[in-house]
Amino acid sequence: MTGFNRREALGAAAAAALLVPGQALAAAPGLDAIGKQRGIRFGTCLGGRGFQDARYRALIAEQCGLIAPENELKWQALRPDAKTFDFARADALIAWAKSVGLGVRGHTLLWQKTERYPKWLIEHDFGTSPRAEAERLLTEHVSTVAGRYAGVLASFDVVNEAVDEKTGELRETVLTTPLGAETVIDIAFRTARAAAPHMQLVYNDYMSWEPGNQLHRSGVLKLLEALKKRGTPVDALGIQSHIGAPGRGNGAPFGTRDEKAWRAFLDDVTGMGLKLLVTEMDVNDKLLPTDIVARDRAVADYAKAFLDSLLIYPQLDTILFWGLADNYSWLQGLTPRPDGLAKRCCPYGMDYEPKPIREAVAAALRGAAQR
Ligand code: GLA
Repeated sequence: MTGFNRREALGAAAAAALLVPGQALAAAPGLDAIGKQRGIRFGTCLGGRGFQDARYRALIAEQCGLIAPENELKWQALRPDAKTFDFARADALIAWAKSVGLGVRGHTLLWQKTERYPKWLIEHDFGTSPRAEAERLLTEHVSTVAGRYAGVLASFDVVNEAVDEKTGELRETVLTTPLGAETVIDIAFRTARAAAPHMQLVYNDYMSWEPGNQLHRSGVLKLLEALKKRGTPVDALGIQSHIGAPGRGNGAPFGTRDEKAWRAFLDDVTGMGLKLLVTEMDVNDKLLPTDIVARDRAVADYAKAFLDSLLIYPQLDTILFWGLADNYSWLQGLTPRPDGLAKRCCPYGMDYEPKPIREAVAAALRGAAQR
């Protein structure tokens, strides 16, 4: 069986497993199949408890064309200490994805925030030549991970969240103290390119279209311009797309956005020759009303408007949600809704039922121009 046929067969089996007894087999195409008509791939992150859930895996095999390991490729998961790499969890996830015909993209070679570094790295003794030691550690990590998955992962978030949203400046960490922030980022991209010459190399960040994010957007732009100027091999911008979060909107009501500034930002990014990806989308409904019908409608409409704003760019050919169903969304563990109810931020609900946002994503994909 070819990978595609095998996947189709698995998709049908997955759909059957999700059916209520007596219901006819759903003929509706999955989101990735809809996107494929336009040259767009659709996927989700997967990992942890979600990966243990056979029904959830079946839904993903049915609806998605690719996954990103949720945490399994981060330093904290791969690096128990300065000398060791542990690929067991990442490899299991990637092996499953490949076995059902799903692509996998990598996330992330360097999450450039001190609080996301493993404890041993924060406490590491950089010795008498701190510059050389920092460069050695970073180069070893990136070349080992990117090299291992060269030819397996077609795209990787090389650096994640290097820009401080409060200042627009590059963040400082124990690696930037000896090397400088620009050098750290350059080393990560150059090492990744050398280790995996055909991999798409992505800078990933959460800069948003909601009010109060101008400084963050201009900081990301400044970084990308500097990378291009120095000839650092960056191919694309990953737009995380955690939209609707009260903190990101600077206190403005849900749904408020600055479309003009957002468009100007995307024009500047694509004008540099960079591609775009939506890497971690979800809609935070924390402050929306309790009523589920109204809440789901608002989430769906907002998701559609956001995707439409991006899909006008032919440079965008990949959309991933950060969780396909509400039960495994990281947002459930974040600050609770005032009414204590579960959040409804992903295309599918707690019982894997499709919600209006699922149809909004399908409509945005159908409405996109051919890539
Ligand atoms: C960031 C990271 C992701 C994930 C989310 C939610 O966006 O890039 O890896 O951890 O936060 O926690």
